[in-house]
Amino acid sequence: MVCNARWALVLGAILVTVSGCSAEQEAGHGAVRTPAPEPEPQLIHPAFDFVEADLASMLDGMPQDIAGTIREDPHGFLSQVLLVLDEPDDLTILVDKDHPLSDGYRPTDLVDLDALSDELVLSRPGHRLRRGATDALLEMSASALGEGITLMVSSAYRSYEYQQTVYARWVEELGAAMADRVSARPGMSQHQLGTAVDFGCICRAFADQPAGRWLRANAHRYGYSLSYPEGYEEVTGYLYEPWHYRYIGRAAAVLEREYFSGLQHYLLTFLHAHRSFLIVSRR
Ligand code: DAL
Ligand code: ZN
Repeated sequence: MVCNARWALVLGAILVTVSGCSAEQEAGHGAVRTPAPEPEPQLIHPAFDFVEADLASMLDGMPQDIAGTIREDPHGFLSQVLLVLDEPDDLTILVDKDHPLSDGYRPTDLVDLDALSDELVLSRPGHRLRRGATDALLEMSASALGEGITLMVSSAYRSYEYQQTVYARWVEELGAAMADRVSARPGMSQHQLGTAVDFGCICRAFADQPAGRWLRANAHRYGYSLSYPEGYEEVTGYLYEPWHYRYIGRAAAVLEREYFSGLQHYLLTFLHAHRSFLIVSRR
């Protein structure tokens, strides 16, 4: 069999001779048009393999002001997300009424705060807290003290079993419906993480006391975040707790403040929903 390619060349030459002009020439006259290629969607951050539309769908369900802030500065947002992804997951794990911990969850690096009673003010002996949260607490307490503010630790790590007794006490005192607005059921408390701290009187008045005001203004600098802000019971599941802070790490505290309106629950919900996708999308 004679080579087909050679016959094609011969046939092409004949056609050019008959028509008097080549395909290239025709293109020059606008008769043959190759459609312009679609522009490639742009990556919004060099460290992630996704485009703006992907980020937009990740923000579905977020309050509009939060989604708007993030969409205005996707590069800055994702740069901060990167720093959070480099931190241990359990600092920003979502724990709430729909996302409980197992009864066996127990942090392995709890520090006995009694050993630090020279540097911390403790409501009673026996408080424990995870190492990272403790280091940040020490720094935060020293800074507060430097401004004449005492931060008293009133509650810290609570085991699943201890939370059972706490919740049962509230049910006895207030009934189940009201207890569920002020106390987590066992497995659903951030205190089981070993990174949550209740400060001061554990009372509504704490919001207006010097320590309460100081924490509201400064806790984020040390990676601590208010878990149950005023007016967000529908979102968090709990009434305002001006005394309850959770250590989420400094990177997450910046992310929360700059892109999630200072609302921990939305930050944690976002990370819960998209952490795996963010991790596999890293370039
Ligand atoms: N008071 C908070 C919700 C807790 O019990 O963990
Ligand atoms: Zn608490």
